[in-house]
Parts: sequence; C-alpha cells; structure tokens
Amino acid sequence: MVKISPSILAADFGNLARDIGLVEQAGADYLHVDVMDGMFVPNITIGVPVVQSIRRVTDMVLDVHLMIDRPRRFIEAFANAGADILVFHLEADSRQGILEAIDLAKRLGKRVGLALKPETPAEELYPYLPELDMALVMTVEPGFGGQRFLSEQMEKLRKLRSELHRLHLSCELAVDGGVNLETAPICIGAGANVLVAGSAIYRAQNPADMIRVLRESYR
Ligand code: DX5
Ligand code: ZN
Repeated sequence: MVKISPSILAADFGNLARDIGLVEQAGADYLHVDVMDGMFVPNITIGVPVVQSIRRVTDMVLDVHLMIDRPRRFIEAFANAGADILVFHLEADSRQGILEAIDLAKRLGKRVGLALKPETPAEELYPYLPELDMALVMTVEPGFGGQRFLSEQMEKLRKLRSELHRLHLSCELAVDGGVNLETAPICIGAGANVLVAGSAIYRAQNPADMIRVLRESYR
C-alpha cells in the first residue's frame, strides 16, 4: 500500500491550517514538514514554533524532514513540538552524531528516518537500515520545492528496496522531490512506498483527487 505525504512547503503559509485540513480530509497518510536552516541547505523555512502550531490543528502523522546541520541538537525540541517521524540527513553530521540523533529520537518514543542527498550512494545507508523506520531518497537537491525530478535516483531506490528485502526489514522507503503524476509510478515501480509531494498536490485543481490518483498511479 502506497502512502502519500503532502509537503506543506507548497501550501499557503498564510492559510496553513486550511491547507492542512484539505489534505487531512482527503485521507493523506502523513503530513510532510520541511525544516531548513540556511546552512545545510541554501534556504530557511519552518522552525519549532510552527511545528508546535501545526500539532494543535491536526491529528495527522507529522513527518518532519530536518534539512539542518547536526540534527541531534534539535531532536528533542522537534519531538516535544509534536513531530511523529524525525527524518534527518546522513550527510549532516559525523557517524557518531547521526547514531546519537537516532538513539535520542528513539528514546523520546519517535519514529526515525535518514535521508540521502542525490550525490550520496545507497550503500552508505546500509549499516543504518536496521535502526530505521524510514529511508528517504531525495529526487531533487534539497532546499526548494517545484524542482525537476532526478530520474537517475531510481537506481538508488531499487538498491535500497532490495537491501531491505534481503535483511527482512519493514523500514519504509520514501521519495521526495518532483513527484507528480508522471514520476509517481516510476518511484513506486522502483520500490518506494511513501511518496512526498508538494507542488503536484497543492498546485492541482483538486488536491484531494490528486492524492488519490498519486496513490493509485502504479499499474
Ligand atoms: C525539498 C523538500 C521537498 C519539497 C518537495 O528540499 O524536501 O519536500 O517540498 O516539493 P515538490 O514536490 O514540489 O518537488
Ligand atoms: Zn522534504
């Protein structure tokens, strides 16, 4: 079963509660919240107080994508703000820092995910897979919504899917960036079971229909 995680980066921040309600009513599985620090990526978006406010207006599972340097520093703050899944980047710290962040998120009772930038090979994630609830493959350079899908990342998805299969792990496999009607079936075919989509959903004539169509787009 494919899950859809609408990214509110493409929502209207002046009407955030309305735009969250829209995808919640439509039966979206998760709500994807893109946190950027202007250091790990060249953009600044949402911080802890906004996640706190989002938590008050929805019961959706908050899939918080931390595009920040040394994420361990902020795990507790985002956990307390109401994040359900904490996803951070393998490239954002040393091995020790990443392991500590994973451990802290788990001790706080949260699901944990690791994300890979386009240039990072699948193999670098393999040692961490047994610890994870989610592996996220970026199909754009992280930092901005509305970019073109990088189809060469499909090989990475396939490798991760087969490694998860080999190890009998139930870790979810997510794809983020440029997911739309055309690229969603390619991602699902390559092994993704969670599709993050911003522009495709929030720029659609009918976002609710788009969520359903994306979910069922693989034949
Ligand atoms: C990019 C973010 C994505 C972004 C996806 O750095 O991680 O979640 O919102 O946006 P679209 O679906 O428009 O590519
Ligand atoms: Zn994201």
